[in-house]
Amino acid sequence: MKSLVQVVLLCILCGAANGVPTKVAYTPEIVPTRVEGRITQTTVALEQPRCVFDSIETSCTTCKIWLIVANSTGVTRFDQMKNDFLNTSALSYKDAFTGPNGFYFTVKTERDFYVCPPTATPNEILALRVGSEVPCKTPNCNVPLPTGGTFRMKYVLVDPDLTTPNIVAETEYTQVIQLRSATDPNSIDTNPGRRTGGMIVITVILAILLFLLLAMFAAMLAFACCRKFDQPDFSVPQTTSGSLRKYHTHSLHNPSGAIAQKANM
Ligand SMILES: *[C@@H]1O[C@H](CO)[C@@H](O)[C@H](O)[C@H]1NC(C)=O
Repeated sequence: MKSLVQVVLLCILCGAANGVPTKVAYTPEIVPTRVEGRITQTTVALEQPRCVFDSIETSCTTCKIWLIVANSTGVTRFDQMKNDFLNTSALSYKDAFTGPNGFYFTVKTERDFYVCPPTATPNEILALRVGSEVPCKTPNCNVPLPTGGTFRMKYVLVDPDLTTPNIVAETEYTQVIQLRSATDPNSIDTNPGRRTGGMIVITVILAILLFLLLAMFAAMLAFACCRKFDQPDFSVPQTTSGSLRKYHTHSLHNPSGAIAQKANM
């Protein structure tokens, strides 16, 4: 609702496209905190762009709503490119973060899919899960996002019939979204062969540690035993009171008490 009002009030340039996308004053939001998995290691649940583009180019029934996922480089890059024709299918996830772009188009949707006002029942949240397409089947697949990455996303309205500048309108970018970086279940090695290899290494290390521990324990035991049996040998120095006498004479000859005491301690 808030977005609808914003669009009506702030969409100043509507209809005056001329290559420059109309900026819709709507910032896509991550769904509220109470929704489970709003940000995971590879996905983000965004609120759907309902009522966002409704007043823009209403005659363009073939226009499609796309989502743009960009890293910090891609944010700048898209802004540089958006006034020209953009080949949406070429700007896919495939080389988005390995090539020069840093952004990609995904989740192509018919504009009337996002019915306005939303038909959600109370307490139902209409989310768009970014990164949920597994396995990847389409060229602009909604591929799982790189774990731990930092992204911003925006919705754009694209006229597929144009070979001239085709980005009709755009929303603002989301805030910077930091994906979770905890160990991704998908990245855990489930290959049985290699897992066995890892387990062998751990077992060997544990065995060595255990052996060392036992050896130390045995050595301590032996030492303690010997000490017990050799008691007479060890008591011998006690009878040599020479060292004690020496200290005595030393402190007598050295009147600087404090230092001598310290030394004796
Ligand atoms: C974003 O993607 C571009 C293009 O692949 C890459 O060169 C750049 O290093 C990336 N930036 C960050 C912050 O990951």
